Amino acid sequence: MSETIAWIGLGRMGTAMVERLLAAGRDVGVWNRTASKADVLVAAGATRLDAVADAARYDVIVTMVSDDAALRTIHSESGLLNGPVAGRVWIDCSTVSVEAALAAAAAARAAGAAYVSAPVSGNPGVVHTGNAIFAISGDDEAAVDAAERVMSDIGRKVYRVGPGASANVVKLCTNAVLSVIMQSLAEVAVLADGLGVRRAQLMEFINDSAVGSPLTRYKTPNIVELEFPQTFSPFGQRKDIRLALAAASDKEIPMPVLSATEVEYSRLVASGLGEGLDYAALVLQVARDAGMQLRPERAA
Ligand SMILES: NC(=O)c1ccc[n+]([C@@H]2O[C@H](COP(=O)([O-])OP(=O)(O)OC[C@H]3O[C@@H](n4cnc5c(N)ncnc54)[C@H](OP(=O)(O)O)[C@@H]3O)[C@@H](O)[C@H]2O)c1
Repeated sequence: MSETIAWIGLGRMGTAMVERLLAAGRDVGVWNRTASKADVLVAAGATRLDAVADAARYDVIVTMVSDDAALRTIHSESGLLNGPVAGRVWIDCSTVSVEAALAAAAAARAAGAAYVSAPVSGNPGVVHTGNAIFAISGDDEAAVDAAERVMSDIGRKVYRVGPGASANVVKLCTNAVLSVIMQSLAEVAVLADGLGVRRAQLMEFINDSAVGSPLTRYKTPNIVELEFPQTFSPFGQRKDIRLALAAASDKEIPMPVLSATEVEYSRLVASGLGEGLDYAALVLQVARDAGMQLRPERAA
């Protein structure tokens, strides 16, 4: 069984994910608020949707938008749920709060559609190589089955993590760890540099140690060469930190390390230093605070 798919939200991630679906031979209709972003996918075989409501013609509707507010717009203002969506499956892959996911699920249910949370771990480059992973959750097993089939055509593995918005919880926790690791890498890179050790040598060793990970390896060129092509913005990363902190605050769960990390991302956003750069630009901020001028290096 191969569901037809309507895809709403063609930013960096949405575009890369639809490319994977097209490569898998899926029939995909695409819509984006800024319509021109659909052009490259239409040229690659996707069908352009003139209106969000046209998504109701497809078996499965996937959204990949910025944040809680954008997701709310989709279910309360876009007209998506005014179309004949009864019996359809709506899968949201955005990184949003539990509250936003539950509100979208309730709106879908009221329109007769099933809702599945399917946030993704992996940047656009990771999606491109087929290595993204998904956490999925929902209350309708058949809809979760459909989501598993669709996401399996995009990524390497799909984890069913429970009912309701469990997947949103898993995603926020994962991104919290990622945010802290990036700040920590920035700090030690500047420390090593200040003590006369090449950042390239440090990162080569870290990457082969117990704390080496896909993340430390992806971010090595940023730290070494001081080039920061954006995979995700400091603003977006801070959005995810704040969602985790808000959830922790509601539950009276102290998160001192993540709280301190939020301040550093906020400084990167507020100072303008991170404007247009990847969040790995945290290393520039640590160096500036240390009164140091880093120089680009070549990989070890
Ligand atoms: N980039 C990453 O590495 C990464 C990794 C995992 C998860 N994520 C998550 O994936 C989501 C998308 O990230 P991204 O990097 O693809 O972001 P992005 O490039 O900024 O794209 C955001 C998308 O949301 C759409 N959008 C924003 N507000 C909207 C609204 N009110 N109504 C309709 N559409 C709206 C944008 O439309 P326009 O084009 O018209 O602005 C665009 O299609 C975010 O939740 C992010 O946290 C990102």
